Amino acid sequence: KKGEAWSARFSEPVSDLVKRYTASVFFDKRLAPFDIEGSLAHAEMLQAQHIIDAQDYADIQRGMEQIRTEIADGKFEWLLDLEDVHLNIEKRLTELVGDAGKRLHTGRSRNDQVATDIRLYVRAAIDDINGLLRDLRLALVDLAEQHADTILPGFTHMQVAQPITFGHHILAYVEMFGRDAERMADCRKRVNRLPLGAAALAGTTFPIDRERVAKTLGFDDVCHNSLDAVSDRDFAIEFCAAAALVMTHISRMAEELVIWMSPRVGFIDIADRFCTGSSIMPQKKNPDVPELARGKTGRVNGHLIALLTLMKGQPLAYNKDNQEDKEPLFDTVDTLTDTLRIFADMAGGITVKPAAMRDAALQGYATATDLADYLVKKGLPFRDAHEAVARAVRVCVDKGCDLSDLTLDEMHKFSDLIELDVFQVLTLEGSVAARDHVGGTAPNQVRKAIARVRAQLG
Ligand code: ARG
Repeated sequence: KKGEAWSARFSEPVSDLVKRYTASVFFDKRLAPFDIEGSLAHAEMLQAQHIIDAQDYADIQRGMEQIRTEIADGKFEWLLDLEDVHLNIEKRLTELVGDAGKRLHTGRSRNDQVATDIRLYVRAAIDDINGLLRDLRLALVDLAEQHADTILPGFTHMQVAQPITFGHHILAYVEMFGRDAERMADCRKRVNRLPLGAAALAGTTFPIDRERVAKTLGFDDVCHNSLDAVSDRDFAIEFCAAAALVMTHISRMAEELVIWMSPRVGFIDIADRFCTGSSIMPQKKNPDVPELARGKTGRVNGHLIALLTLMKGQPLAYNKDNQEDKEPLFDTVDTLTDTLRIFADMAGGITVKPAAMRDAALQGYATATDLADYLVKKGLPFRDAHEAVARAVRVCVDKGCDLSDLTLDEMHKFSDLIELDVFQVLTLEGSVAARDHVGGTAPNQVRKAIARVRAQLG
């Protein structure tokens, strides 16, 4: 008998275009390992509940093992005619084991089946991603440790603000990626619930044991409403939102790497293996990897919006719209995992140029705040100190010199509270070392922060 699993009701076949339009097998076949895992757990429960017999279950197990091997060996024949991953596997199972294969779908629908598959897929993706976030954080911590004392200008509005340590700067990203890992772990709790048993939308007339299936598949709980279980993809949206934030953090870092590697700045170099040249300009070495990561962030943000838009107009319960959840989700996972892997590797390929960083920190009056704080400590109210230093900076701008180039006499024109000890305060080292509290840029704090993150990551 030819035709689709559901074709008995129909009086004419679908056109080839409609077939291609409605099929998902060419992208959802990557769910196959999860589909098989879910089917085996379902079959095990059917058998335990005496809905199928032990021989059926044994046949299903045997058939699924063969299908697994065929897929792994690239020998499995995926057919567009069979629409999706679920029907392809079920059809092959029936070819291999006969009636037991036809009994597998008892008490189940593709609606709860696909929802289960995606949850298993997202759960595995989160576990991978959290491993990669850990690798990236450890690589960045190593870089931060090498440069706990390296000074560069910190910027606000892209204008020189105050001296900071490079280690401290890098640890800012370690914090961001740490929150990203927390977000992923939190999302996992809501991903890790079992839709199976919801069947098409209303549940099933068979005496199923959902808790048993949940336990077999490692889910923390079952979905408590069948309509919700088959129709909502909020867990995938939440995952994409968390992924978009990881990429946003990656993108900010990428932007800084690009700026730092520009010859006009020259703070770092990036190992050749992450860069490419120009087909016309022989001298070029371009930071392609950070630039592409910045670009790919747009694509992941787009996937988040695609899924939100996919969901917003759907009435309960399942609608075919949901088949469109997969490509954005898969591409989000692929893009994010590749990006994290490459960034963890690239962190070790960054060469820091401390002299260029130091030169830059010596321009732009980075220690002006230190001078104001100095005057406050000598008794001047902060607003008056701010004004006195601002006037001193103006004079330095006109003279083309640094604050520390002024003589004590010249400084006395701005405040007679200034004494010889001011020159220590105006040094870059004095400036960073003085910010010695939790969250501050002092090398001492950088080392403590590194120890804290390493202890946390084990
Ligand atoms: N391929 C479908 C999807 O991805 C599976 C569920 C289809 N269910 C249905 N009744 N057409 O969502």
